[in-house]
Amino acid sequence: MVELAFSILASDFAHLADEVKAAERGGGSIVHVDVMDGHFVPNITFGPPVVQALRPVTNLPLDCHLMVENPDEFIPAFAEAGADLLSVHQEVCRHLHRTLQLISDHGMLPGVVINPATPVDTLIEVLPMVHYVLVMSVNPGFGGQKFLPFAVEKIAYLAELRKQMGLNFRIEVDGGIAPETVASVVQAGAEMLVAGSAVFSKGKTEQNAKKLLKLARA
Ligand code: DX5
Ligand code: ZN
Repeated sequence: MVELAFSILASDFAHLADEVKAAERGGGSIVHVDVMDGHFVPNITFGPPVVQALRPVTNLPLDCHLMVENPDEFIPAFAEAGADLLSVHQEVCRHLHRTLQLISDHGMLPGVVINPATPVDTLIEVLPMVHYVLVMSVNPGFGGQKFLPFAVEKIAYLAELRKQMGLNFRIEVDGGIAPETVASVVQAGAEMLVAGSAVFSKGKTEQNAKKLLKLARA
């Protein structure tokens, strides 16, 4: 079943709880939390205190996407704050296997993320230990960017590898997911769709989420 992971980066932070509830009413089933440190990506967002504030607001899983240079240092704090899924970028992990193990050891479901320029093959050895792989379809750092179409081939290749290797990790895609792009990524094998700017908009969030899911499940 294809799921919508709505990215709160595009929401109105002054009304975060209401924004989450609106996206949830629209059928969104995962809360995607974009954590940026101003080093790995040229932007700063939020960290464990915001995750902790969100925890009592919803029963949906909190999917934290760490765009930080030193993820290992923050794994315990995210676990304590109530994160359910935690993903780290391949590009910053010197000891990726160890970092993914650390996420599992803290009771969270581990995910690995690759930037548009990072090949899928760099993940082969860790695929058996991840719950999900996140394929970036924009360069991370900002919402509202244009979808990079070559991400579709990466998703398809990953789905093929999953089959060949007899694994069942999930495939997530993030960046520029909108009514125009959703069909291509679902067809390629993505089943967790991150969307921010295509979901959140004043008074229309619920219907935007519904529309996107309808197209994704068509
Ligand atoms: C980008 C973030 C995305 C972002 C997606 O660095 O990882 O999750 O919020 O935003 P849209 O859906 O607007 O492309
Ligand atoms: Zn993200």
